[in-house]
Amino acid sequence: MENKDVLILAIESSCDETAAAVVKNGREVLSNVISSQIALHTLYGGVVPEIASRKHIEKINQVIEEALEEAHVTMDDITAIAVTYGPGLVGALLVGVSAAKAISFATGKPLIGVHHIEGHISANYIENKELEPPFACLVVSGGHTHLVVVNDYGEYQILGRTRDDAAGEAFDKVARAIGLGYPGGPKIDKLSKEGNPEAIHFPRAKVGESNYDFSFSGLKSAVLNYLNSCEMKNIEVNRADVAASFQKAVIDVLVEHALEAVKEYGFHKFAIAGGVASNSSLREAFEKECAKRRIDFYHPSPVYCTDNAAMIGVAGYYDYMKGKRDGYDLNAVPNLRLGER
Ligand code: KG4
Ligand code: ZN
Repeated sequence: MENKDVLILAIESSCDETAAAVVKNGREVLSNVISSQIALHTLYGGVVPEIASRKHIEKINQVIEEALEEAHVTMDDITAIAVTYGPGLVGALLVGVSAAKAISFATGKPLIGVHHIEGHISANYIENKELEPPFACLVVSGGHTHLVVVNDYGEYQILGRTRDDAAGEAFDKVARAIGLGYPGGPKIDKLSKEGNPEAIHFPRAKVGESNYDFSFSGLKSAVLNYLNSCEMKNIEVNRADVAASFQKAVIDVLVEHALEAVKEYGFHKFAIAGGVASNSSLREAFEKECAKRRIDFYHPSPVYCTDNAAMIGVAGYYDYMKGKRDGYDLNAVPNLRLGER
């Protein structure tokens, strides 16, 4: 390592992945270790917060050690510690925050609290070295659906958000209703390939005055009503058609709202982020529509779309360069809003 290199040790534990990573100079991922609890939560059909916290405690030290080992560095090489402090499950967040504070205290290295959504957005910088703000970004994850303008590193303006369910949440709930299990997103993505997206017409929600807000609970109810009516009429449900038609309804709304905003604000660059951004049909739809409109389209690889610590390391790097430092009073903030400090 050269002396001037900035190495961030990043920690992420906001939901059901215990993750640590080492990121060099903001864009180079030296290691990205993820210990997933998905198999465990699948038994219960969703994330059980108490179990998540307990598992994070069991795994966190091992994951951090692995991240350093894989990066072929020691703690001495690390410049600063970045950690997700919100939003997320409070007990889960606290495990990462406590670990980061302990390391910072023991080593004297600076501590930087990172916003989870800021991390998701920053995942785009890893593989798109030329991408720099300003650009527009659609964040679609299990807990969030945000249409964001990235004015500069660490400077965000929210144009729209979901009024009810997040996009990923809708995927998970519909998947459960058609018996696919948790997490539903990847399963609906896969099954949709065998179905006809035009088979069933589900509603595309318009929300009040704002063009940029989203709503997915009506769509979810429409799918449940459809399933109930099939059951009452004794009609066999074609699950692949339901999955494909539901997925198409979500994608249509996301594409329309996001690209409307891109046009209105005159952006030439558009990115997607968050777990749902790994959806293959969503990527294809944006690729096609952005090409038509001559907009440069960016997205992270699937491993950087779902929760990981590398993205936290990237966001943490830009915070570090701006001089942001946190004290040992850094706390987990379960409902932290983007742009708040
Ligand atoms: O970003 P993420 O890992 O965690 C949160 O911050 O919420 O997102 C998880 C969400 C889950 O709802 C999952 O079902 C969804 O992302 N997801 C997908 C796909 N892969 C993950 N949704 C649609 N298609 C996928 N391929
Ligand atoms: Zn996430």
